[in-house]
Amino acid sequence: MIVRILGSAAGGGLPQWNCRCPNCAAARAGSPQVKPRTQSSGAISADGRWWFLLNVSPDIRQQILNFPELGPADGELRGSRIAGCVLTDAELDHTSGLLLLREGGFMRIFSTGVVRRIANGYLSTEPILSQFGQRPWEELEIGAWRDLPLPSSEPSGLRLRAFGVGEHLPRFARTEFEGESGSVIGLEIEDARTGAKLVYAPCLGEWHPNFAEAARGAKAVLLDGTFWSDDEMTRLGIGTGTARAMGHLPVGGPDGSLARLTELNAPHRVYVHINNTNPMLNSASPEYGELIRRGLDAGTDGKRFEI
Ligand code: MLT
Ligand code: MN
Ligand code: ZN
Repeated sequence: MIVRILGSAAGGGLPQWNCRCPNCAAARAGSPQVKPRTQSSGAISADGRWWFLLNVSPDIRQQILNFPELGPADGELRGSRIAGCVLTDAELDHTSGLLLLREGGFMRIFSTGVVRRIANGYLSTEPILSQFGQRPWEELEIGAWRDLPLPSSEPSGLRLRAFGVGEHLPRFARTEFEGESGSVIGLEIEDARTGAKLVYAPCLGEWHPNFAEAARGAKAVLLDGTFWSDDEMTRLGIGTGTARAMGHLPVGGPDGSLARLTELNAPHRVYVHINNTNPMLNSASPEYGELIRRGLDAGTDGKRFEI
């Protein structure tokens, strides 16, 4: 399986349009230590020809231009190599890009039922897209393995299982969907030929047992790196909520994900969905140094590896 990080930042990207926190200021000034990043998305492929997007950010147009393999093939007038899009939650940074992929063609969308209802209830995603191209939406059943088909319906060589990691409702959808399962999932994706597994969990509020179990045998883990510390936003004077209250387990500290991630032996352990306030985005910071010392990394746009 080929894994490519299309966008490694959380919602807002780096720099964020209205932010002058230390990282946003450094990225805007062209600092070599703080690389600009687009919003959270990944792409996976078994054959290097057909790809599945993992979440679709509002930066998807630029991400595709930066990775021409997703665009029209040689000799094709119109078309794309995107066979489908898999959604882990209904946040705008993970779903609003679907509307920007409206032009033509055929592309499957996969999500849980509740994510589909939020995407349709607030953004009218399916009704809008149906006026442009074929976008069959397939619901993921938590815990069940399923094949990811090519547009021809032949197997792509990838299969996937969604696992629940708690509840995470977008701010605009708070009340009516409360208590429903499937508002945020992690994905376990297996290459049918090699058996290699990727675990993708860009939104993880706690070290959830379902995540821990899936990650144990994985060759690669791409994990929520939104915040370094629980009080990051309040300390910078930017926000009022803690990382955990926003549904993101912090990276640092004795109870953070870094301490737990070190216990896993996946060769690729990479943070994604990194908020622009996170100090580990600066390659000269002690926080980034700690990641590297422990054999982990902070995702960058365009990073690619094979498992
Ligand atoms: C999140 O990851 O918590 C959300 O995407 C926040 C946002 O609205 O940007
Ligand atoms: Mn987000
Ligand atoms: Zn910022």
